Amino acid sequence: MSAYLQCIEESCQKKISANAKTYVCPDCSGLLDVMYDFQIADPDKVKQAFQQRRLSNDPLDLSGVWRYRELLPFCADPAKVVTMQEGNTPIYEAPYCAEYTGLKRLHLKHQGLNPTGSFKDNGMTAGVTQARLMSSKIVACASTGNTSASMAAYAARAGMKAVIFIPDQQIAFGKLSQSLDYGALTLQLEGDFDEAMKMVKEITEESEVYLLNSINPFRLEGQKTIIIEMLAQRGWRIPDRVVVPGGNLGNSSSFGKAIKELHDLSFIDKMPMVTIIQAQRANPLYKTLIDRSARLIRVEAHTLATAIKIGNPVSWKKAMRAMEWTRGWCDVVSEQEIADAKAIIGRDGVGCEPASATTVAGIKKLIQTREIDKDEDVVAVLTGNLLKDPDYTVNYHQNNLYEKAAYKNELIERKDKIQSTYANAPVKVKARKEEILKVLGL
Ligand code: F0G
Repeated sequence: MSAYLQCIEESCQKKISANAKTYVCPDCSGLLDVMYDFQIADPDKVKQAFQQRRLSNDPLDLSGVWRYRELLPFCADPAKVVTMQEGNTPIYEAPYCAEYTGLKRLHLKHQGLNPTGSFKDNGMTAGVTQARLMSSKIVACASTGNTSASMAAYAARAGMKAVIFIPDQQIAFGKLSQSLDYGALTLQLEGDFDEAMKMVKEITEESEVYLLNSINPFRLEGQKTIIIEMLAQRGWRIPDRVVVPGGNLGNSSSFGKAIKELHDLSFIDKMPMVTIIQAQRANPLYKTLIDRSARLIRVEAHTLATAIKIGNPVSWKKAMRAMEWTRGWCDVVSEQEIADAKAIIGRDGVGCEPASATTVAGIKKLIQTREIDKDEDVVAVLTGNLLKDPDYTVNYHQNNLYEKAAYKNELIERKDKIQSTYANAPVKVKARKEEILKVLGL
């Protein structure tokens, strides 16, 4: 079966070859989808094949992306696939979070348990595989840290050179350390993510370098499997709603495409709503929705959840489409709400990075505004691992987290303190038995 690219703009819909090295429509600059002439006669048989592959040791079957290959059939040659057994992430029931939000039950799909610790691996296996199909030798991305960590790892596996563009001083050390160890050329740019994105787009347009941000539609094909795997894990019981953080809006875009395709192909008979949560001061999608603007309303983004510190998200039109298809919505949460929700997720024994906690914070808010009913069957997607940004967590628990911090080589000013409502500070104690027993209350 052959894949092709198609412009998403209604007025254009231009079709081009899957192997064209372009990330937007050559006619109208619209975003592109990877499209297929699907020929799936019996979805139940395909679902059974997905299930049976869980018993196989074939490298493709061991991947939580390529196990579902009938739904992303753009690579005809299994030998070309670059995989690290990505996906395969658990769904946890989270009673503490459920009670906190006001839901009867809540499930967390933890994409932070991927090989490089974020959902980006689901997309990167697909993106780097396409890079290999196109014989690319150099791949590049702009990143708030997770895309770059993932791309660096997959490029290393594929023997490609990786070049990453990151905003100087604005990415968490867990993420920076990954791209350094995986051998990527790491360019720290003055300015924010949006500027890094602009630069990498220009450079990849004018050179051989292959762009692996989520504007690359093959990345999104891989990320569709987050939804597919979640449904397979639930025995194809469809949740009412899937809640996801919104940054550059690749994930929400891919969720929309996955749900629409699964519905069109009769794998599911109902579409779960896609609810996107942004940080209050990094809220371009929310602003655009509220103002009913036909153009994206860009913002200068600020949030301690650095993964989603993005004011000009490239995939916003696909995210709009995802909400339209699934009757979804977008909302925003404050830094305080994010910080507290993260600590509550922790109490369920599940660690995530700040951006992921927008989900639980958003659910709590939407229950209060009655947008979400307490009986709803909701899955929140945790996008990144706690260990990506341990500084944030330790500062929160030590009552030392501030919304604004100014640096001049070192931290010189702190403003707008975040309350550490659920702090669990470490206790300093002398290494003496009696003292320890006293602290233990024994
Ligand atoms: N959560 C985490 C942990 C992320 O790293 C990102 C994005 C998002 C949520 C937002 O997802 O962009 O698909 O809406 N991180 C990108 C990066 C931008 O460069 O690592 P999105």
